[in-house]
Amino acid sequence: MTSPSAAAAARMRLRSSLPGRERWEVDALSDAPALAAALEKALLSHVGVSKVSASAVSGRVLVFFIPDTLVTPVESLLREALQRLSSEPTSEPERGAVSGERSSRSLMALLPERARLVRPLALSVVSHGLSIAQGLLVVATLNAALAKRSGLPRGDADSRFGVVGTLLMLFTGVNQYVQHERKRAWRQLARNHEQALRARLLAAIEAQDVSTLDAQGTGRLLSLVTKDAARLASFLERDVDDAVNSALVILVSGTLLLTTSPLLVLVACLPVPFMVPLLRKLGRRTAAARTHQNERLDRFTQHLENSFAGIIDIKSFTAEQDDVRRVSESARRLADAELEAGEAASLEAHLMQGAFATGFVVMTLYGGWKARKGLLSSEVFARTMYLFPQVLGALGGVGGALGSYHSAVSSAERIQEMLASRPSIQGGPVRLPKAQVRGEVRFDDVSFGYAPSTTVIHGISLHLRPGETLAIVGPTGSGKSTLLKLLLRFHDVRAGSIQVDGHDLRELNLEDLRSAIGIVGQEPFLFEGTVKDNVLLGDPGASDAEVAEALDNAGASQFVEALPDRMDAQVGERGRKLSGGQRQRIAIARALLKKAPILALDEATSHLDYETEAAIQRSVRNASSRMSMIVVAHRLSTIRHADVILVLDQGRVREMGRHEALLAQGGLYAFLWSLQQGE
Ligand SMILES: Nc1ncnc2c1ncn2[C@@H]1O[C@H](COP(=O)(O)OP(=O)(O)O)[C@@H](O)[C@H]1O
Ligand SMILES: [Mg+2]
Repeated sequence: MTSPSAAAAARMRLRSSLPGRERWEVDALSDAPALAAALEKALLSHVGVSKVSASAVSGRVLVFFIPDTLVTPVESLLREALQRLSSEPTSEPERGAVSGERSSRSLMALLPERARLVRPLALSVVSHGLSIAQGLLVVATLNAALAKRSGLPRGDADSRFGVVGTLLMLFTGVNQYVQHERKRAWRQLARNHEQALRARLLAAIEAQDVSTLDAQGTGRLLSLVTKDAARLASFLERDVDDAVNSALVILVSGTLLLTTSPLLVLVACLPVPFMVPLLRKLGRRTAAARTHQNERLDRFTQHLENSFAGIIDIKSFTAEQDDVRRVSESARRLADAELEAGEAASLEAHLMQGAFATGFVVMTLYGGWKARKGLLSSEVFARTMYLFPQVLGALGGVGGALGSYHSAVSSAERIQEMLASRPSIQGGPVRLPKAQVRGEVRFDDVSFGYAPSTTVIHGISLHLRPGETLAIVGPTGSGKSTLLKLLLRFHDVRAGSIQVDGHDLRELNLEDLRSAIGIVGQEPFLFEGTVKDNVLLGDPGASDAEVAEALDNAGASQFVEALPDRMDAQVGERGRKLSGGQRQRIAIARALLKKAPILALDEATSHLDYETEAAIQRSVRNASSRMSMIVVAHRLSTIRHADVILVLDQGRVREMGRHEALLAQGGLYAFLWSLQQGE
């Protein structure tokens, strides 16, 4: 038996078939960009399939394949993949028509509060009102100029011409000023709002769980803060103002038009009722296409970010061409999505314009004919001919604004989703000021895995007494770094508990916990800025002397003194201007400056030669004699004096004890030791 969703997934039709290429229409694909992406991936994993392009907008899948290599027919591949994917839960929220109301609510929630909208809105109303009046005055001037022929007495015609002419000049002058103010007010509102929104977003992103951030990917996060925030701001800066303009024109000019010549307007509007359902359908399609485009943009940004970050490796493997190909493939997919979205939006706009243009032609011919017959005064005809395009333009403007509205809504949804998402790792109520931490760490039968289906840490127990040193050794991938991540509560344990000074981590205030621990990671990250800036991260209020002392204890002062600007030397993006070992030492200085009661070094000296490594570990130990230390190290000789050595293997404690005892035991530690003695 198939589930209803699987049956729905299976509704598909072959649209075209050529050797090596088939195009299918799949119902389940419409408005489901995540499914489209997953389907592409699933199909591409089959040997013989060379290229797949699935569109959530058209609901079609184009599959290129090598006929002799592909053993299964494309149809079966598609059905199998769709069935599997539709039975998996997708994270895709309901899109399209149903989400309309919720979407506009996201947008509303992200606009500035009402009080701040008053001034720009008022300026918009005045300015656009003046523009309308200006236009009407032009028509009145025209009619006054031609009035002689319509038989008005000469004196009256002259004074009328004078009055409308003066008003026209006055209104034009005032409007120049008001327009300037109006644009400025919207611009200021938009920019301030954008900046505030970015700050809120950044705070929300940085508060997320590490696992959430891993899952979201840098590309999406970058677009959120840059593009989505900008899109909302430009909606605010231009589109709200345009909408006010359109509304006013439709209201004022439209009413005038209706009262001047209702029959003509009726003739012109004949096509409209037929358009409405079509436009709604197209609107939904455009919205889906915009969402799809945004997702592709995220992926492209991510690829780009990755390839710039890894440029050294790419070059060293002379993989530039491959990388360019990969990233351009992503750019092509983005371009496809942009084309689709543009196509959908322009179809929507053209359809609307076409209908209006037809109405206008019909009206002009019909009105002209009536004027010739003397059934319509030339004055009314002139006014109608002026007003009608104004109203049409405004209606067209509404169409354009609708496009911006769709993309603003899609950005608003993404932003709102991030702002509303609460990190699952929340601090507890127990405060533990840094000065009061004794530095006792206890792991009680801790188990953990990054994904529900895997276990990385199996029932580990350990105990670190205040002021002692715990060393963790073991092969790569055995879970050493994971233990430290658990201690900092980047992830929560699956079973068991971790305590600092007798408090379960989950009860502790999160900031207190993280302030209590100084950590130097395996590949420490230096920020763009000076050496000093990077060390000051440990304690922003520290003096130059304290920074120098920390650098000294970390074994960094010698090379820092040799830098052109010493402590004020720029380290480059991600610390690129320094060697790995230099970066590590600056990171150690940073952790030392933090003066945290617990110091964790995760292979923090791995880039150094043996002698420097040993010297630094000694000086760090001396500089922080009251601290508890956890040292993850590869070279066993550097940790032989530790109070406890824990030998980890595949997430399990294999051995634990002091160096001599472990050697005497003749187990894994003794074996590793004997290996390293030969080095
Ligand atoms: N962010 C992560 N997501 C998923 N798996 C991870 C992640 N980090 C580490 N792992 C996996 O957990 C295991 C232990 O990794 P780690 O603690 O880094 O090992 P070690 O530091 O001992 O080399 C490895 O199998 C690794 O693949
Ligand atoms: Mg590690």
